[in-house]
Amino acid sequence: MRFVVALALLALPAPVLAQEAASPQGLAEWQKIYEVFSHPRCANCHTEDDHPRWSGAHYGPTRIHPFNVRRGPDGFGNTGLTCQTCHQETNAQILHGPPGAPNWHLAPAEMVWFEKSSAQICAQIKDPARTGGMDLEEVAVHVRDDALVAWGWDPGPGREPAPGSAEETFAALERWTALGAPCPAEESGE
Ligand code: HEC
Ligand code: HEC
Repeated sequence: MRFVVALALLALPAPVLAQEAASPQGLAEWQKIYEVFSHPRCANCHTEDDHPRWSGAHYGPTRIHPFNVRRGPDGFGNTGLTCQTCHQETNAQILHGPPGAPNWHLAPAEMVWFEKSSAQICAQIKDPARTGGMDLEEVAVHVRDDALVAWGWDPGPGREPAPGSAEETFAALERWTALGAPCPAEESGE
């Protein structure tokens, strides 16, 4: 099979080959972006069901947010128990205190990354129907400037921050987009 693919590549005209050659670099940029988006500090708020997740060193294994916290009609929780009941605009500075950032709420269900593969997250980011209408440039700017995203790198005592920084992830998104925004193939078996 590989052999046949190699033969087919040899038969391709030069410009197509040049494009193929760009793709490993693009995929390397995507890998950096994926490591951020799939990190618990981001993915635990980007869930498909009704529940944010908790995970990391001081939480133990990943689990559903306790206290019967729910998405509610708009991501801000149920009327009786909104996120803002506990989550303020800044982090509580004690271990196990509620983290905080302005406008704390769960991402819409279509922006799901929790337990999704690299290929699935990549497809989500590239589909404006699932990014709230944002194109890739707007997604990159959101990552650079949004307060909830920024929290991922300043998550409060005891929580491991997402890798890199907002600025580095913004730059990786810009380079990935310039390289044609390639997505990895779905892993076999999925
Ligand atoms: C407290 C919950 C929360 C956390 C933590 C969070 N997000 Fe989000 N995210 C949201 C919400 C809510 C939206 C929808 C836009 C809005 O209402 O601000 C969103 C939307 C997005 C979008 C645009 C839509 C899309 O899916 O393409 C991106 C990109 C994004 N977040 C990146 C991140 C990254 C990167 C991190 C971690 C560094 C992160 N988010 C952490 C709640 C969160
Ligand atoms: C009854 C209080 C309470 C409510 C309501 C609440 N939370 Fe929390 N949340 C907490 C506390 C406390 C922590 C920190 C626990 C710890 O660090 O041990 C936390 C942590 C989190 C974390 C960090 C998880 C991680 O792995 O870093 C996220 C994300 C989160 N909550 C999202 C939400 C969202 C979204 C809502 C509303 C839909 C919400 N919470 C409602 C108390 C609450």
